[in-house]
Amino acid sequence: MARLKWGMIGGGEGSQIGPAHRLGALADGHFDLVAGALDHRPEAGRAYARQLGVAPDRAYGDWKEMLAAERDRADRLDLVTVATPNATHYEISKAFLEAGINVLCEKPMTVTVAEGEDLVRTAARTGRICAVNYCYSAYPMVRQARAMVRAGEIGRVRLVVTSFSHGHHGDATDADNPRVRWRYDPAMAGVSGQFADCGIHALHMASFICDDEVESLSADFASTIPSRVLEDDAMVNFRMARGTVGRLWTSSVAIGRQHGFDIQVFGETGGLRWASEQPNQLIHTPVGGRTQIIEKGEGGLHDDAKRLSRVAIAHPEGFPLAVANIYCDLADTIRGSARDGLPLAASGLRSIAAIHAAVASAKAGGAWQDARPPMFR
Ligand code: NAI
Repeated sequence: MARLKWGMIGGGEGSQIGPAHRLGALADGHFDLVAGALDHRPEAGRAYARQLGVAPDRAYGDWKEMLAAERDRADRLDLVTVATPNATHYEISKAFLEAGINVLCEKPMTVTVAEGEDLVRTAARTGRICAVNYCYSAYPMVRQARAMVRAGEIGRVRLVVTSFSHGHHGDATDADNPRVRWRYDPAMAGVSGQFADCGIHALHMASFICDDEVESLSADFASTIPSRVLEDDAMVNFRMARGTVGRLWTSSVAIGRQHGFDIQVFGETGGLRWASEQPNQLIHTPVGGRTQIIEKGEGGLHDDAKRLSRVAIAHPEGFPLAVANIYCDLADTIRGSARDGLPLAASGLRSIAAIHAAVASAKAGGAWQDARPPMFR
């Protein structure tokens, strides 16, 4: 099978998410990194792309130069990943979709709901894939949880409780570090800080595992470091279309919590628990029964969890391989076998609508808001 040609925008040297994309995309032999505009500093971006093995004529100083040079090549890109700060996602993703190139966009997909709706429409009109990197949903045991809910193994889901709370922006003396600061600056991050940065992973995970959509929410936001314009802590209550009650806490000042992403799903006949810091294990308690640990790689897993487990049972299989699972699903989808778990622009749009609903709710003292994008109401 021919390898797919992959380009990257952002994710330069020292960036947080860039390495996970490269480890993930290159893990299974589906993609080759052939082009990149990796850094907001043109020379640094060109140099780093060359260091990664990109040919000098495809190591670009910025994404517009990359688009102009790549769009008419015979050996054009099959996929471009957009891993720049949030405010740039829309313009870059739209331009590459319009040029007929599939996109994997980092979350949050866009800053405004109108932009999100436009990307959904642009993907449909161009017939290109616009995926969003909700990579936690590609851990094998998250896929197992979703398959168990779909198979009715915990009955109708009554309640989902999730948190994505870490303490890595809790040091007020580091608040001016440029890599931290942009996340709380509306010009770079949009209308929300921590909820848009981490909370939407948790919200997406709730929808993903419950196989349901968030319809309404109520939010309380706080900027616990006063120099921050945007929130660094949020509590969000939500309701899903099939009546499931949701609770979500997200924070970046919870000192002592490391990655801090976990989810519990409580159904009529059982409960499930998964945490990103122990990603190989899914905890299952049937009603009236004993708590059991389901391990990645053991026998009897649902097909999707089996397919995405690579290394032997009990060996750690971490974050870059979850990202690799997104790239595997993308490779299959690009080659014509669409993968149902792959998060697409519609999921990205739902998150943006939820962000705006949460901001409106927080401003209105927690008043409940419709969390659905207008085009899906
Ligand atoms: P970062 O600040 O660590 O790195 C950003 C990188 O993009 C830098 O290399 C910078 O030079 C480059 N860049 C900035 N503007 C650019 C432009 N116009 N053209 C080309 N390169 C440009 O940021 P980080 O944490 O890597 O975040 C990037 C994106 O990834 C954000 O949207 C963030 O929300 C998302 N993210 C997603 C995660 C996930 O779990 N899916 C985890 C961490 C970040």
